[in-house]
Amino acid sequence: MDHRPFRVLGIHHVGLAPKAPSVTQHFLANILGLSAHEPETIESQRIRCTQVNSLSDVRDPQPLLEILEPTSVDSPISKFLSERKGGIHHLALEVDDIHSAVTYLRTKQVTFLSEAPSPGSHGTQVIFVHPKDAGGILVELVQRG
Ligand code: CO
Repeated sequence: MDHRPFRVLGIHHVGLAPKAPSVTQHFLANILGLSAHEPETIESQRIRCTQVNSLSDVRDPQPLLEILEPTSVDSPISKFLSERKGGIHHLALEVDDIHSAVTYLRTKQVTFLSEAPSPGSHGTQVIFVHPKDAGGILVELVQRG
C-alpha cells in the first residue's frame, strides 16, 4: 500500500457558481436560515466569494458553501457561466499538507491548474486539480491557514 504524505480531512466547501448569486444567497441565508459571512474578493482567482455555513448548528460551521461571482470577464467563473446555466462549480477537499499532497500527486501523473498553491479565502492555501484527472470534476485542495 502506498504511503501518502498527506491526509484528506473532509469536505472543506462546495463552490457554487449561480446565474443569480443574490437569489442563491437569499435562499441559503434568509429562507434556510444559514449564516452568511462577509464577501471576500480573491484576486488570484478573479472572484468574489461569499461563504455560507452548510449547517444550521453554528458550533460546527463546516463544510461551507461558497457563492462565487466573477470579478472580471476573464474569471474562470465567467467562462463557467457562459457555458452553463450556473450550478455546482467545484468540490474542495481539505488536506493537512497541501505541498506534500501536490508533490505526491504529481508522482501519480496528476496535473494542476497552477504551478503551486495560492491564497484562497480566509487565509487558506488552495490549488485545483485538472478536471481531466478527476473524470471531469473540478477538485480543489485546501489547507487551512
Ligand atoms: Co473553492
